[in-house]
Parts: sequence; C-alpha cells; structure tokens
Amino acid sequence: MHWIRLIAGLVLLGLSAGCSKEDQTDADQENSVAQGRKIFMDNGCNLCHGPEGRGDGPVARNLSPKPRNFSDLAAYKRGPGLEQIEETIENGLNTGQGITMPAFPIALEDRHHLALFIIRSLQANR
Ligand code: HEC
Repeated sequence: MHWIRLIAGLVLLGLSAGCSKEDQTDADQENSVAQGRKIFMDNGCNLCHGPEGRGDGPVARNLSPKPRNFSDLAAYKRGPGLEQIEETIENGLNTGQGITMPAFPIALEDRHHLALFIIRSLQANR
C-alpha cells in the first residue's frame, strides 16, 4: 500500500505548495499597494484626485472636466482595469474637452504599483 501514501504525500505537497504560492502573491500585492500609496503622494496625484481618490483634491475645483473619483467605476473614460489605468498614467488622457489628465513619465514597475493601489485601495473606498 505504499502507493497510497505516495499519492497522499504528493497531494499534500501540491496543496501546501499551492498555499504558499498564494500567500506569496498576496504579500507581493500588499507590498505593491503600499508602494503605490507612496508614489501617489510623491507625484501629487492627490492634489487633483484627493487623498482618498474621490476627485476632490485642492486643485480640483478649478478643473473641468473634474479629476476622476476612482470609486465611481462607471465614470472612467479609458477604463477602471489594471492595464487601462497603467496606460492612463503613461499617456495621460486627452478627450479634447479642456483640462486633461497629464501623462506621468514614471517607471513601468511604479505604474503597476500605482494602478494596483488605485484598484485595491481607492476603488474599494465607496
Ligand atoms: C493636474 C491634475 C491631475 C493630476 C496631478 C493627476 N490627474 Fe489623473 N485626472 C485628472 C483629470 C482632470 C482627469 C479626468 C480627465 C477627463 O475626464 O478627460 C483624470 C483622470 C484620471 C484617471 C481616469 C482615466 C479614465 O479612464 O477616465 C486616472 C486613472 C488617473 N487620472 C490617475 C492619475 C494618477 C495615478 C495620477 C498621479 C500619477 C494623476 N491621475 C494625477 C487630473 C489629474
């Protein structure tokens, strides 16, 4: 009956490997979100979008169209997904309606942290 123990062992090994991989991913994401929060402040995103991302930063009242309230998923013009937000940060958003979302020339990795922070922290903040 060695094969039963062998199979049970392999299943357990697979399960524990699966779990630790997931923990790692969660930890990585938390780390990304924490870095994203810092990058958000360092680049002054909060000045327009507000510290909680509601589109109500100190500069917002003079802008039209208004900076996005990140928790209003239906209001995004390019889109609220990870890649769409990364693209908005890289290229800005110009819809030809006056004041635009400026492009930010920051590293690919930092764009990722920032987009993940917006999704995991500010979009959930409803
Ligand atoms: C000068 C003010 C200003 C700053 C600073 C600013 N934004 Fe914006 N942002 C805007 C405005 C205005 C819009 C809406 C543009 C529109 O509706 O055409 C916008 C829209 C967005 C959107 C939504 C795009 C969509 O799909 O509708 C995202 C995401 C975004 N900004 C992220 C950021 C991030 C991240 C930073 C910091 C790196 C940042 N913004 C800094 C003004 C700003």
